[in-house]
Amino acid sequence: MIQLRDITKSFGSLQVLRGISLDVERGEVLSIVGPSGAGKTTLLQIMGTLDRPDTGTVTIDGTQVGRLNERELAAFRNRHIGFVFQFHQLLPEFTALENVLIPALIAGRPRREATQAAREMLALLGLAERAEHKPNELSGGEKQRVAVARALINRPSVVLADEPSGSLDTRHKEELHQLFFDLRRELGQTFVIVTHDEGLARMTDRTVHLVDGMKVG
Ligand SMILES: Nc1ncnc2c1ncn2[C@@H]1O[C@H](COP(=O)(O)OP(=O)(O)O)[C@@H](O)[C@H]1O
Ligand SMILES: [Mg+2]
Repeated sequence: MIQLRDITKSFGSLQVLRGISLDVERGEVLSIVGPSGAGKTTLLQIMGTLDRPDTGTVTIDGTQVGRLNERELAAFRNRHIGFVFQFHQLLPEFTALENVLIPALIAGRPRREATQAAREMLALLGLAERAEHKPNELSGGEKQRVAVARALINRPSVVLADEPSGSLDTRHKEELHQLFFDLRRELGQTFVIVTHDEGLARMTDRTVHLVDGMKVG
């Protein structure tokens, strides 16, 4: 479903990715681990079309994304890719429901239908009662679940998560990790998760180790 071929990326004289090839299968939960500075975030950003590689190709759902212009890429990203970051990055002035709704409205779905879908997604994540609350009225774990609901609202091909539990305490961390696997079971959702959490990495189907911009296993 995702194919990366010979991806390289440098920032100035620093070569951050040195020829990464990777396939992700539909319905797979893949983890990417490695020391700080190894290039994990850069790889995830390239996989998510937020950044372009210097060389190599990214193919998602049969589309070679390097061939898309910026406008096509934004539309493609909106429909095919969901993101969850370490810090929820919810918009503080909007409610949980509105935060989840926004990507659906951007996708051009009618407001009524999108609102219904957003409520269902929040309910699926156990947040039905929190829909009208703003981020500062939610716990850290709840905010991260709202961020997951936002990532899922357009039923993307893949959810890319960059240290999603990095700012959570142990209990909320474990809840979030379990949630990824529940969503895979219930929705067939594919996940690529960058993590420092060994427990999470062990739960995933496969772990890619990145060191100095190279896959070492
Ligand atoms: N936009 C950028 N400009 C310059 N250097 C960057 C940029 N993004 C990342 N880097 C550098 O690339 C290296 C890899 O970064 P990153 O992909 O964030 O690693 P990781 O997520 O594994 O910690 C680091 O040395 C980082 O400082
Ligand atoms: Mg990182």
